[in-house]
Amino acid sequence: MSDNSRLQKMNLDDATITVLGLGHIGLPTALGLAELGRRVIGADDDANKVELIRAGQPNFYEPGLDDLLSKHLQSGRFQPVEDVDTAVQSASIIFICVGTPQKASGQADLAQVEAVARVVARNLTGYKLIVEKSTVPAITAQWLKRTIVRYSLGKSPVAAGESTSGQPSPAPADFDVASNPEFLREGKALEDFFHPDRIVCGVESERARAILTNLYSPLQRPIVVTDISTAELIKHAANAFLSTKISFINMVSDLCEKVGADVSAVARGIGLDSRIGPQFLDAGIGYGGYCFPKDLRAFIYLAEEHGVDFSLLQEVEGINQRRVDIFVRKVRQALWTLPGKTLGILGLAFKPGTDDIREAASLKIIQALLDEGSILRLYDPQAMPNTQRVFPPSMEQITYCSSAYEAARGAQALLLLTEWEEFRQLDLLRVRPHGSARFGGR
Ligand code: UDX
Repeated sequence: MSDNSRLQKMNLDDATITVLGLGHIGLPTALGLAELGRRVIGADDDANKVELIRAGQPNFYEPGLDDLLSKHLQSGRFQPVEDVDTAVQSASIIFICVGTPQKASGQADLAQVEAVARVVARNLTGYKLIVEKSTVPAITAQWLKRTIVRYSLGKSPVAAGESTSGQPSPAPADFDVASNPEFLREGKALEDFFHPDRIVCGVESERARAILTNLYSPLQRPIVVTDISTAELIKHAANAFLSTKISFINMVSDLCEKVGADVSAVARGIGLDSRIGPQFLDAGIGYGGYCFPKDLRAFIYLAEEHGVDFSLLQEVEGINQRRVDIFVRKVRQALWTLPGKTLGILGLAFKPGTDDIREAASLKIIQALLDEGSILRLYDPQAMPNTQRVFPPSMEQITYCSSAYEAARGAQALLLLTEWEEFRQLDLLRVRPHGSARFGGR
């Protein structure tokens, strides 16, 4: 057995993996790894969240997650904890899955990543591989590494090898940093974990490469091994490219409407070209969610910082922002005036299969229609509790409904904002039983 294979075996069979951050990425990742046979600790300093997960009730909706959670709470391979320090001490592989929100400037806010670096630093007991999974700008890993080194040496901010007293420096901490960006889609997180198109591993040591490639080898998917900055950049470039596809088809759809062409047929016609591909060519009200808008802005910010012209992506963002105005204008054109009109809203989540409404176009559309004085009847199969936190049910112009049919009752128009499968199955005669539109204010 070579040194490497001995190392791989030792690390994985005996390893405890800690996943830091139990959100939309962390929890599916932790459970996916548990399903692959690993012993996983999931740590989050939000005690309420951990309590819910321990009770088998994640605080967000993701298909299949509840079942996998109860399976691995029972198998004992997944242990949710709020004691982050102990979780780090126990682990030899640590996945960082904390949030990277954005600042007003568009720059990624890495405060949580830095906080994790300090926790890791004060708990470095033996070799650890620290893996970034959160989407971060290129070169974050270098900061991560530097921070861990500084805070692990006598818990004081003196870098390895730097000595202020003339005394010999302490031995550098034994760890590697790697980047393993996550491409999980919400609503398909487990499917994507077990059947990824590719796995990207950014490493700078043979040891880290061996551990990560071995960890993912049961998935039998292509593994792209790069240096760390390249891996970080791949994630941003992937999200930016997909956002570009969406804005491209949305731009084309505006022209299609003007000249009487069918944008779905255009998308099919170009998507069958294998160089283009059929996915992410559904025109609509624009992309939303926690990743695309934020990651695109962070990518643009990074380029600006380095003096690289990313005006292409600025326009991608501009097109996306204009979708809401274009949509509301269309509703106005269909109904002539909006004040006092009753409108049924079908779909609130930023896409089907999730209860997530972060950066959902629906929120902006609802706000614009409320400002116009419309009366709204809202329905979504999953996202109503989250939406009620933004638009409380006590608001005079808003009614939350128990079904799509309820939302349609008395409405002069139905606005389909999220393409949930159940909306495709609607019985249109039940939606509009009298066969004629009714106009007029209330
Ligand atoms: C995205 C990436 O796909 C994933 O790889 C990354 O890890 C996280 O960000 P997610 O945010 O879950 O995943 O949603 P995704 O399915 O990519 O959709 C993003 C947005 O684009 C949604 O608002 C969706 O409705 C919209 N979209 C998608 C379109 O408007 N048209 C399309 O053709 C596809």
